[in-house]
Amino acid sequence: MTRKTVLITGASSGMGYAAAKLFAKRGWRVYAGARRVEKIPGGANIYALYLDVTDETSIRNFAQFAISHAPRIDVLINNAGYGEFGPLEEVGVQRVRKQLNTNLVGASELTKLVLPTMRKQGAGRIVNISSIGGDMYSPMGGWYYVTKHALNVWSDTLDSEVRQFGIRSVIVEPGGTASSWSEIAMNNAQANLRENSPYAKLTEAMVTLFNQMNSSTHATSADLARVFYQAATDTIPRHRYFYSLGDRLLGHFSRAHQATFHSLLNVVTNQLLK
Ligand SMILES: NC(=O)c1ccc[n+]([C@@H]2O[C@H](COP(=O)([O-])OP(=O)(O)OC[C@H]3O[C@@H](n4cnc5c(N)ncnc54)[C@H](OP(=O)(O)O)[C@@H]3O)[C@@H](O)[C@H]2O)c1
Repeated sequence: MTRKTVLITGASSGMGYAAAKLFAKRGWRVYAGARRVEKIPGGANIYALYLDVTDETSIRNFAQFAISHAPRIDVLINNAGYGEFGPLEEVGVQRVRKQLNTNLVGASELTKLVLPTMRKQGAGRIVNISSIGGDMYSPMGGWYYVTKHALNVWSDTLDSEVRQFGIRSVIVEPGGTASSWSEIAMNNAQANLRENSPYAKLTEAMVTLFNQMNSSTHATSADLARVFYQAATDTIPRHRYFYSLGDRLLGHFSRAHQATFHSLLNVVTNQLLK
């Protein structure tokens, strides 16, 4: 039987790293991409490739290598991403563009390159790693939440267009998960603050809150890799995948009761500013 093939972006750390190991262990042929190619896990089934999802040439080289090397492309996991945290008034436009290009446009451009192969096969799955931040939001993470909300809409629209070809596009929404993500996002929150910023107090409070939540998180990247695997292999995929019931309920609550969610968020923000 032909081994199945998966392309995974952001495979040098966290969930992408764990997913590359898991798929390889289960006998898949894995094309794993990241800028820090030396940090991608090694192994007989893993092809570690340089990939910068903000760079068109790099995306093309990554896709072309996999498409010409593998007998078929079963799954693409758009996982590469980070949090450009900081107050909306102060995040510079270059960093806004980098956030959109990494978390949204890069996923879209890579997907466009694998779809023709999947269409020819009459089968394929695009697994997009969003976040519970694709349903909810909080101060200081605005551009990150914009990208994850947008990724959800992009994925759902794509799904409605490609189902006719036997292809599905699905979303995984991780909640707080142990990885480098939180440290990078909180460093960005501080780096994006201007001198004497009026948002310094709120930023400090949010960083403290995120760090507290992060230290109490129980989900590991390996846990989420198993969710990625399920999203990639379920015969009839779900619309959304969550790791925990708490994440699912939070996503559902913020979507179904937007005004109440917004009021509660304001209460919490006022408390943080006291
Ligand atoms: N951890 C959480 O709490 C959490 C919660 C919800 C959603 N998520 C989402 O889950 C996904 C994985 O995050 P993680 O938690 O595993 O974080 P992580 O440990 O920081 O890993 C992020 C990965 O993305 C890659 N990446 C970043 N920019 C890239 C670029 N321009 N081109 C190619 N690769 C790039 C990094 O590789 P290089 O730097 O080597 O390129 C790294 O492998 C992200 O989309 C994140 O937004 C995370």
